[in-house]
Amino acid sequence: MKITIIGTGYVGLVSGACFADVGNTVLCLDVNDEKISMLKNGVIPIHEPGLDTMVERNAAAGRLLFSTSYDEAIAHAECVFLAVGTPPDEDGSADLTHILAAARSIGQRIEQPVVVVDKSTVPVGTADKVRAAIQGELDKRGSKVAFSVVSNPEFLKEGAAIEDFMRPDRIVVGSDDANATRLMRQLYAPFSRNHEKLVEMDVRSAELTKYAANAMLATRISFMNELANLAELLGADIESVRHGMGLDPRIGSQFLYAGMGYGGSCFPKDVKALVKTGAAHEQTLHILEATERVNDNQKNVLFKKLCRFYGGVEQLKDKTIALWGLSFKPNTDDMREAPSLILLKELFAAGCRVRAYDPVASSEALRVLERDHGAVHVEEMLTICSSATAAVDNADVLVLVTEWKEFRAPDFRHLAQTLRGKAIFDGRNIYDPAEVAAAGLSYEGIGRIS
Ligand code: NAD
Ligand code: UGA
Repeated sequence: MKITIIGTGYVGLVSGACFADVGNTVLCLDVNDEKISMLKNGVIPIHEPGLDTMVERNAAAGRLLFSTSYDEAIAHAECVFLAVGTPPDEDGSADLTHILAAARSIGQRIEQPVVVVDKSTVPVGTADKVRAAIQGELDKRGSKVAFSVVSNPEFLKEGAAIEDFMRPDRIVVGSDDANATRLMRQLYAPFSRNHEKLVEMDVRSAELTKYAANAMLATRISFMNELANLAELLGADIESVRHGMGLDPRIGSQFLYAGMGYGGSCFPKDVKALVKTGAAHEQTLHILEATERVNDNQKNVLFKKLCRFYGGVEQLKDKTIALWGLSFKPNTDDMREAPSLILLKELFAAGCRVRAYDPVASSEALRVLERDHGAVHVEEMLTICSSATAAVDNADVLVLVTEWKEFRAPDFRHLAQTLRGKAIFDGRNIYDPAEVAAAGLSYEGIGRIS
């Protein structure tokens, strides 16, 4: 099948590469010239395991094309995916500027029947707006071309995006057009070969399913974070509690990990957007409002622990803090809403020097920090180190922010000799408090007995 993907970011590029890998001819379009010329030159603009070889293989086979030309992209396809960003606007609602601009661009150009697929995360009712935007442009041209709009939200996780796309738990298709549904079934057949994974529903339910899933996952995390803070006061260990809860199949063991709060490009914005959708219909979503409040608070927890450890924020001045990990989760260089950004802001304000190491996110982190704090200030406060060992050199304490694999089994005895303050703050509960203590270090996790 010939497919066009509008928006070549995390979702667009991964979807494009995966659709090409099963034999389709895919054209990925973006308005960002720099991104498209990087891709044409074989450079992948994001860090996503396995993506480089998949893009290279399919580009070489002529099945994966990149373009900035809407004319070329719309003429190419019988199926056009919308995978542009839907960032929060000032009040937290989803900003549909990019989606509707892309829809108008389609309407200005289609000559052949086309199925338009909303893959971006969009509020209920957006498919109607996309349809109206395309129709509006057709009317202006006095053209009559058949098209339909379906909702096919994406559930991939960054860092595991290829695996999630190639072997999805489910494929949600919201459609009110039987022909479009048939086309989607054909397109997704290679991804649900042995078990039927495609779930058909109406368009609005599909749009809501995406927000419901992210909101539920975010709520589980906030619930566990709140419980972890209580466990500390009660002298209980959240890791034992998590294990004991998760074995109940009605609860399940995933997404129960307490930590520094959820980040990333989606949970924070999607929770906000769903709250706004509720408000627009005069319904307060109490649980989600609390989910967001708990999460905002959780991003400060490690800084509060550091203040307590040193006996007040004033005592933090001129301390050197080693930071392991900057990205919002492992296996990605994505810094959007990363909890490290909140911690760094607090550490800079307290007058700390920071020595940070991240396996892949350092340059993206620097870009974001320089934008937010100014290059001069960042240069004064932050040293980006080339290894985990270099980051702890000359540091007072170590803070583990992102649970990259290479941080999982450090030499605690070496850390005890190196860190002046002889303390580890584990923002992801990856260390065994007893093992850390045995090496002569004090340990602070999230909701742990230390
Ligand atoms: P992204 O910011 O990485 O990429 C979006 C791309 O769209 C950018 O490259 C941008 O230049 C391009 N773009 C913007 N306007 C355009 C236009 N008019 N025409 C062509 N290109 C345009 O975003 P993302 O992380 O891939 O997210 C895209 C959507 O998918 C969002 O709605 C997001 O909520 C959803 N989603 C994201 C993930 C994820 O893991 N990142 C997972 C599931 C769903
Ligand atoms: C999330 C969802 O998991 C995907 O299904 C969805 O498609 C995507 O959002 C989206 O809509 O964009 P992602 O943001 O890539 O994927 O990453 P997650 O693995 O979900 O992690 C999100 C945040 O939650 C991270 O900061 C992570 O550290 C945190 N988290 C996750 C916890 O604090 N505890 C957990 O138990 C799990």
